[in-house]
Amino acid sequence: MRRPERILEVGTAVGFSALLMAEYNPVCCEITTIENYEKRIPVARANFKAAGREGQITLLEGDAAKLLPTIEGAFGFIFLDAAKGQYISFLPQLLRLLADRGILVADNVLKEGEIIESRFAVTRRNRTIHKRMREYLYEVTHHESLVSTVLPVGDGLAVSYKK
Ligand SMILES: C[S@@+](CC[C@H](N)C(=O)[O-])C[C@H]1O[C@@H](n2cnc3c(N)ncnc32)[C@H](O)[C@@H]1O
Repeated sequence: MRRPERILEVGTAVGFSALLMAEYNPVCCEITTIENYEKRIPVARANFKAAGREGQITLLEGDAAKLLPTIEGAFGFIFLDAAKGQYISFLPQLLRLLADRGILVADNVLKEGEIIESRFAVTRRNRTIHKRMREYLYEVTHHESLVSTVLPVGDGLAVSYKK
């Protein structure tokens, strides 16, 4: 709907979603995508090449926490699909990079429904991720420059529009 000319993705894996965005965005766009797991990077590059999209998709190798501050905006669409416990720490950089009227979509925000449970119902091992994801959802739904909604589809999507 926003027809973004620039898209940023955090969490490439093997490039499935980057290729989907390249295919289905109705306008020609540049995609920048970040991945830090070295075994997935060559697979993603091969997939971009096989699809003839290597000129359109730029894969940045490394930790998004380090790379995001080095990127210049603005992006009309950002897809956040990396380590769930890091969403809240990425948010300030993502807001800097998101264009006015741009859309930020974060995937897996409900963690199979666990996020709406009491913290006491969550195993001790998962409590930090639970707390950080709740902070992310609180922040995007209360931030003065965002309008956000959480969609209970798949594993939960937070969709944020920058005013
Ligand atoms: C759910 S997968 C991404 C799936 C992909 N977006 C898709 O739908 O095809 C998450 C990826 O994020 C990567 N990742 C996690 N934390 C990261 C970080 N801090 N910096 C860069 N990549 C990260 C993981 O290695 C993993 O490949």
